[in-house]
Amino acid sequence: MAGLSPLSSFALQTPQSVNTGTLVKTGPYLQSPLPGKMTVRWITHEPCFSWVEYGESIGQLTQKATATAFGLVEAYNTVHAITLTDLLPGRQYFYRICSKKIESFEPYKLVYGEAFAGEPASFNALHPGAESVSFLVFNDIHDRPESFPHLLQYKGEEKRDFVFLNGDMFNYQDDEDQLVKHLLQPISGISANTPFIFSRGNHETRGKFARRLPDYFNSSEQGFYFSFQYGPMYAIVLDSGEDKADDTPVYAGIVDFDHYRQVQAEWLKKEVAKKAFKKAKYKVVFSHIPLFHSGDWHGPLHCRQVWNDILNDAKIDVLISGHTHVYGIHPPVKGQHRYPIVIGGGPQDGKRTIIKVKANSEAFVLEMVDDSGKQVGTLRI
Ligand SMILES: [Fe+2]
Repeated sequence: MAGLSPLSSFALQTPQSVNTGTLVKTGPYLQSPLPGKMTVRWITHEPCFSWVEYGESIGQLTQKATATAFGLVEAYNTVHAITLTDLLPGRQYFYRICSKKIESFEPYKLVYGEAFAGEPASFNALHPGAESVSFLVFNDIHDRPESFPHLLQYKGEEKRDFVFLNGDMFNYQDDEDQLVKHLLQPISGISANTPFIFSRGNHETRGKFARRLPDYFNSSEQGFYFSFQYGPMYAIVLDSGEDKADDTPVYAGIVDFDHYRQVQAEWLKKEVAKKAFKKAKYKVVFSHIPLFHSGDWHGPLHCRQVWNDILNDAKIDVLISGHTHVYGIHPPVKGQHRYPIVIGGGPQDGKRTIIKVKANSEAFVLEMVDDSGKQVGTLRI
């Protein structure tokens, strides 16, 4: 839970002595662009009290937001997620992150230490009724942080509404430093001003830190499967889970993806029955594992078994996936999938891709570019 906090002389004062950066480990990075909302995240080295100052002009960051839950303002934490609310559609906002170190935390005696106030950054609030939508997709980076700046050189000049991370940014989850060094720092040049949407791949379900990912990505109201509307596009994000059966010995009895995919199927049926979905000009689905063209392991087959009929009947326009490391744009196949399937490549040299999408009332135009800047696929709807 998070919300706006009233101005308080107790703590919400802009730091007078501003530290230039040793307190903040990484960030800010924007998450969960939802109607009227944007979540600002960052990580500090030390337990802090944190807030966001924001407003519609860079010189007037007069509004302040904290995270609150159960009557308590979040404090003495290092992973910060503060949701700005009541944002006007499409409006540009400026913001900066602020943290104060908590030196000691005794009942009735809290001692603050050094303070940090970040450089102002800006974003545009989601506009559900926007005329167009524009975004980038990365997939299957697999712990190669240098791939982000490399592929971003081909992103084009256009301002994007968001960046979609379509799974397997990592090989497996080890600790927070891995998230920082292999993702949050490499994309920091874009993520302070453009939100990224994190879709989980099968590799992100592995390793001792996998169960901590919700602390760092998306928002608690989203989780890892969700839908969102951005201008002419209604997007559904599915969490395809692991690629092998739940009882495979390597999982040691601690995964439950068949049930999870079934739960998503029930949710998916309700999503595609919504008026907003039916009315949307472009119906786009993201799933790290593609339902076809992805071998015959249990994961892809089960995704197909529980989701494909729903997607076919719902007449989706495109499925955007990764996972196979073989890029391609697959047209509909009679008797299988009535929708095209876009599969991004990766992670090795010559196989990596960046996908660029621009959609408006005229057309949905997708372009896939490889790591030499060469266009390797297009789709126009
Ligand atoms: Fe994968």
